[in-house]
Amino acid sequence: MNSVLRSRQTAYLALLLLGTAALIGGCGGGSYPSPRVAGQQTTRYPPQPVPGTGPFARPRSLQQIGLPAEATRAAIPRDNPQTAEKIDLGQKLFFDGRLSVDDTVACSTCHDPARAFTDGNAVSVGIKGRTGQRNAPTILNALYNKTQFWDGRAQTLEDQAVLPIVNPSEMGQPSLDAAVARIASVKEYRKAFGRVFGRQPNGLDLVSAIASYERTQVSYDSPFDHFVAGDQGAIDTAARRGWALFNSRGRCNKCHALSQDRLDVTNFTDHGFHNIGVMVVPRNVVAMAHLAEQSVKAGDMVAVDRAAIQTDMSVLGRFLVTRRDSDIGAFKTPNLRNLLLTAPYFHDGSHETLWDVLDHYNKGGRRGDPNLDRDMQPLGLTERDIDDVIAYLASLTSPDYRKPALRELARQRKLSQTTRPYRDNVKAFASK
Ligand code: HEC
Ligand code: HEC
Repeated sequence: MNSVLRSRQTAYLALLLLGTAALIGGCGGGSYPSPRVAGQQTTRYPPQPVPGTGPFARPRSLQQIGLPAEATRAAIPRDNPQTAEKIDLGQKLFFDGRLSVDDTVACSTCHDPARAFTDGNAVSVGIKGRTGQRNAPTILNALYNKTQFWDGRAQTLEDQAVLPIVNPSEMGQPSLDAAVARIASVKEYRKAFGRVFGRQPNGLDLVSAIASYERTQVSYDSPFDHFVAGDQGAIDTAARRGWALFNSRGRCNKCHALSQDRLDVTNFTDHGFHNIGVMVVPRNVVAMAHLAEQSVKAGDMVAVDRAAIQTDMSVLGRFLVTRRDSDIGAFKTPNLRNLLLTAPYFHDGSHETLWDVLDHYNKGGRRGDPNLDRDMQPLGLTERDIDDVIAYLASLTSPDYRKPALRELARQRKLSQTTRPYRDNVKAFASK
């Protein structure tokens, strides 16, 4: 615990110090040696209305079947305990466009509770219609993540929250202090910060409140959780067979389980990073890695954030954080709950349906990539196998999202009957 706290403080301080100097020259030209900056449109874009807090936004019950009680307690940092008023303040901030430089983009713009806290886009869109390079993950169950972001560049939810606020393609504030000043200009916020923290708004309290709210977003109680709790009929035969395949011939448990030899029924991640060969357009990653070494200061989270969201060095993944060659193209193994609400898939949103995802795994990823994880193998799954694994994945939907998930499953199934851009029968059925 202690070291976690220490690293949290250090990381946070580093950000604050960087805050003003590094951020100002950041985007325009000047100090940030810029490779091709992709997707940075600055054309006018009618700002989308900020998704408001509806029934899906409420703090969730801790009494859900399948909820890991001990891990949930352990995910609350000692220096940021949960209180009802702090959570309430965090919720207001999460849904407030005034956190962004032009009042148009809130956290909820890209993490909409009605979509299980994602945005439905392949890659996210921030202020002035600027697109980034990555798909927005859900914040449901993010409190259990050992690291945050696809490349794990932040450790805690508190550290994480600073980065979108100051990223020029997301909320665009010149510094965290500028965001604090905007919030402090609102009387209700001054009062609320006073009540919760006993002082005027400041950066640390702001991200602490947001993180407290995020830690209330726990999502279990799915048909699969009821099945694990002993209700055999909670999922159908197809889903039961899919779960067995997940842990055997499908090899999913090689990464989507805490350990390869114990079934994982909770979060379906090893908290590790793997290159599973998602990159759709082949790129010269070696040249890109050299560029990153020269242009992105190692350990500078703000610089890594910009490279990840705003440049095509984004494809380097975990390498941007660790600078280890073996991490080139490696991304974090995500949790697999509520997938029917979080489409499209993978770090770049390149795969539209779960059939596309399964087609990708079935051929063993993009073969021939020297950094491809050795656990990626052609699987030889039949169409029925694929349907069954998807039936199992669909059973990980929490009850709140049952209806939209059924609609989305039907949409994906229909699409998959005509469009399977990632299916490769020759490779899928090749011997290992
Ligand atoms: C413009 C869209 C956008 C906005 C605004 C935004 N995010 Fe995100 N968020 C993303 C994207 C895209 C990622 C993944 C980026 C990456 O991994 O490089 C992400 C990642 C995250 C993660 C990590 C989850 C995980 O599983 O690793 C959390 C937590 C999160 N955002 C919370 C927030 C909070 C809190 C705010 C507001 C302060 C916010 N986001 C604002 C798009 C956005
Ligand atoms: C070698 C490790 C590994 C194996 C094996 C593996 N996964 Fe993954 N999975 C990952 C990683 C890492 C990602 C994120 C990769 C990326 O976006 O580049 C991922 C992403 C996904 C996603 C997308 C989730 C999202 O939110 O976008 C789904 C769905 C998924 N995996 C399901 C499966 C299934 C089903 C299997 C078995 C057929 C499987 N995985 C096998 C590591 C693995």
